[in-house]
Amino acid sequence: MQKKFSFTWLTTLLISGQCLAQGGAVPQLGKQSIQSVIAAMTPEEKVSLVMGTGMHFPGLSEDKKAPVVGEVNGRVPGAAGTTFAIPRLGIPSIVLADGPAGLRIQPHRPDDTATYFATAFPIGTALASSWDTDLVKQVGAAIGNEAKEYGVDILLAPALNNQRNPLGGRGFEYYSEDPVISGHIAAAYVNGVQSNGVGTSIKHFALNNHETNRNVINIKVDQRPIREIYLRGFQIATQKSKPWTVMSSYNKINGTYASENHDLLSTILRDEWAFKGMVMSDWFGGQDAVAQMKAGNDLLMPGTDFQHKTLLTALQNKTLPADTLDNNVARILETIVQTPSFKKYAYSNHPNLTANAQISRMAASEGMVLLKNTMQTLPFNVDIKKVALFGNAAYDLVKGGTGSGDVHAATIISLPEGLAQAGYSVDEHVKGMYSQYITDIKSKHPAGNPFLLPPPVLELDLKTVAPQLIAQMADEQQIAIVALGRNSGEFADRHLDADFNLTEVEKQLLQDVAQAFHAKNKKVVVVLNVGGVIETASWRDIPDAILLTWLPGQEAGHAIVDILKGKVNPSGKLTMTFPMQYTDEPSSGNFPGTVLIPKDPNNHDFTSGDQAAEIEYTDGIGVGYRYFDKAKIATAYPFGHGLSYTDFTYDDIRVTSPHLGQVDIDVNVTNSGRTAGKEVVQIYVGAPKGKLAKPIKELRAFAKTKLLQAGEKQTLHFALKPMDLSSFDPDRSSWVAEQGNYTVYAGTSSQDIRKTANFTLNQELIVEKVHPVLQPQNAVEGSK
Ligand code: BGC
Repeated sequence: MQKKFSFTWLTTLLISGQCLAQGGAVPQLGKQSIQSVIAAMTPEEKVSLVMGTGMHFPGLSEDKKAPVVGEVNGRVPGAAGTTFAIPRLGIPSIVLADGPAGLRIQPHRPDDTATYFATAFPIGTALASSWDTDLVKQVGAAIGNEAKEYGVDILLAPALNNQRNPLGGRGFEYYSEDPVISGHIAAAYVNGVQSNGVGTSIKHFALNNHETNRNVINIKVDQRPIREIYLRGFQIATQKSKPWTVMSSYNKINGTYASENHDLLSTILRDEWAFKGMVMSDWFGGQDAVAQMKAGNDLLMPGTDFQHKTLLTALQNKTLPADTLDNNVARILETIVQTPSFKKYAYSNHPNLTANAQISRMAASEGMVLLKNTMQTLPFNVDIKKVALFGNAAYDLVKGGTGSGDVHAATIISLPEGLAQAGYSVDEHVKGMYSQYITDIKSKHPAGNPFLLPPPVLELDLKTVAPQLIAQMADEQQIAIVALGRNSGEFADRHLDADFNLTEVEKQLLQDVAQAFHAKNKKVVVVLNVGGVIETASWRDIPDAILLTWLPGQEAGHAIVDILKGKVNPSGKLTMTFPMQYTDEPSSGNFPGTVLIPKDPNNHDFTSGDQAAEIEYTDGIGVGYRYFDKAKIATAYPFGHGLSYTDFTYDDIRVTSPHLGQVDIDVNVTNSGRTAGKEVVQIYVGAPKGKLAKPIKELRAFAKTKLLQAGEKQTLHFALKPMDLSSFDPDRSSWVAEQGNYTVYAGTSSQDIRKTANFTLNQELIVEKVHPVLQPQNAVEGSK
C-alpha cells in the first residue's frame, strides 16, 4: 500500500516534468527568476518541495512514514533529512543535519572503509558559559566547515530555548536562563557556521523548554514573558546574524501549535523582525499541514505521505490558496540557491578534524566554571604528580548529551588519559576497579535505542567493595579528585533523585574521600561532569575546590587537565542560577505540566505517544536570577558566578548618554592578581518601577577581556540602545522605557557588583510598537 502510493507520486512528478520539458524553455533555478521557476512547477512538484523525503525510524506509525526517492536517499547517511530534487527545473535536493555540539552524521557506511567522524564540541551550555562570542564564532566556523566538507547544506543548530527549569531534558543543548546571553551566543554561532556558505536553523522557535509531552503540550503564557524572556533571544539572534532558517517547535503556545502559528512565524518573525529566510518544522511537529503552510512554516520535516496527500487535496479544493503555497515554495527556493548543493560544491569528506579538535579543547576549557577554590587548591601545586581519581565519571566521562544533540566523534579523551599526558599518574588498581565495574554494569543493560538516554550506571560503592582503599590512596597519592557525572537528552526530562540530587553513595564517597585526605592534609577537588544544574548546597562545604566542566566534548580529559594544571586560567561564568534546593526554583511548582488525557497504553510510536497536557508559566518574567534577586532567595551559586586563579579590580565606570538613542558605558578592569587571566564583565540595568513591575536588574550587555597579564588594564565599552532599557507593556503592545532613574551595574556576577552608575530618562520612550498577538488563552482548551 505504502509502496504503491510512493510509486504513483514519483511517476506523477516525472510525467508532469516531461510534459513541460517538451514545451521547450523550462526555467532553471539560478538562471531564471524564482517566480518563473515557480510558475513552471506542477502542483505535485510544489507539494513535494515543501516537505522532506521522509525518515526511517523504528516504531513509526504508517502515516508517519514517507517514501524516499532514490536520488536523495542516504546522500549523507545519518543526516536528519533531505529535500526533494526536481532535476528538470535545476532544483537539487539539499541535506539537513544536526546539531548544536557538532555535526551528527553516521561515522560508518556500508561497503565503505572510510570513516566520517565529526568533532564533538562542548555542549551549548558550556559554550555559553565562556561568555565569549569570538570563541563561539570560531566553534561555529569549525562546525560549519565539517558540515560543508561532509556534503551538508543546513546545520540544525543552534538551540537557544531558555533554561526555564533545571530539569529540562535538553537544557544542556541550550545556553542560558537569560535571553540576552542566549541571543548573542546564538548569533555568534550562526555567524561562524554561515561564514562557510552553509546555513543554520535556529531552534526551537519557541518555548520548547522541556521534553515531557513536548509534541502536544500547550504552554499557557502571558505576552510579557513571551516577548521579554522566551522570544527575546531569538529576536537578538535573527537580527544580529541572519540565520538562513528557523525551526519551529513542537509545543503549542496559548492553544496553537508553534508550527501552525501565524502570529509567531509571520507576524512576529517576518513582519516585526524582518526575517527573510525559510521556516521548517521540527521533525513530525504540528498536526495540520495546511495550517502550517498558512502560518508560514514553509518546509515540513521530515515529510510524510499523509502530509503530501493533505496538501495536494487542499490545493485542489482551494482550502490552501495557491499563492500561499507559492510563497512557501519561494522561500525554500531562495534558501536552496545559497546552498553548496546548488552550487555543486565538490565536498571533500575530509574536514580538518585535527585543527577542529584543538578548537574543541580550547572552547571546553574556556567554558568551565570554577565554582569554589579555597586555599588555592587549584591550580595543582607544581609538586603534585600523583592523583587519586574517584567516581564513575572519572573513568566514563560524559562528552555530550544524547538524541539529536549527540555527535559521533572518533575519540574521547578520558580523564586518566588527560592526566597521564600532562605528566600525572593515577593509581592503576583503582582505575581497573572502576573500569571493570562500569563495563559489567553496562553489559547488563539490554541493547536500547541508541538515540535515547541509556540507563545510568549507579556510582560504585567503594566503601563497601574496598573498605581500606580510600585510606590507602590518602597515604599514597597527593590529591584526590572525585568526578561526578550526569547525562541527559532528548525525549525525557531529568529527575530529582539521583540526577539533580546526589545519591547517598555519591555523598558518602565524597565524605569518605574528604575525611581521609584531609586527615593527611591533602586536598579534594570535585569535578562536575554534568549537563545542567545540580544540587550543591548540601555538600559544597566538603571539598576544597569544585570545577564545573559541563559536558566538554571529545577533548574532555585534556581540557579538564588544562584547568587543573593551570595551563588555562578558568574564566567561565554560570549562565544560570544554581539554587540551594530544587523547590526554590520559581517554576518547580508547575513543571513539567499537567496531563489532560492519559496516554493510550497501546500506542508505542514515540513521536505521537505523548499525552495531551498543558503547563501554565505562572512564573511570568520571574525566571532565574530575575526571580531569586527580587524574592531575596539565597542561591548556592548565583547567575554569572565563576572564579579565576587571579583577581580583577574594576577601577572605574563611566556612563554617558549624549542622546536618547544610546547609553555608552565604559568599564576599566585591571588584573590585580599574579596570573594572566580573562574577566567577563556583566552589565545589568535596573529600570525605574513605573506602570510595569520590574526585576531588580537585568543583564543587558556583557564582554570578555582579552588575556590580561598581571597588572594589565583594559577598558571595555558597551553601547545600550533604547530596546536594552525597555520592558514589554502588553496593554499597549509596546516596548517601553519608562521615565525615571536607571542604575547601571557592572558585575563579575549578578551578586558581585563592582561598580554602579546612574542616569535619568526624562520622559518615557515608546521604543517599539508591535502587534497585539499571542494573546493569553482565557479557557483551557487542551489538545486540539
Ligand atoms: C529535534 C530537533 C532535531 C530534529 C532532527 C528533533 O527530534 O527536536 O532538534 O533537529 O529532531 O534530528
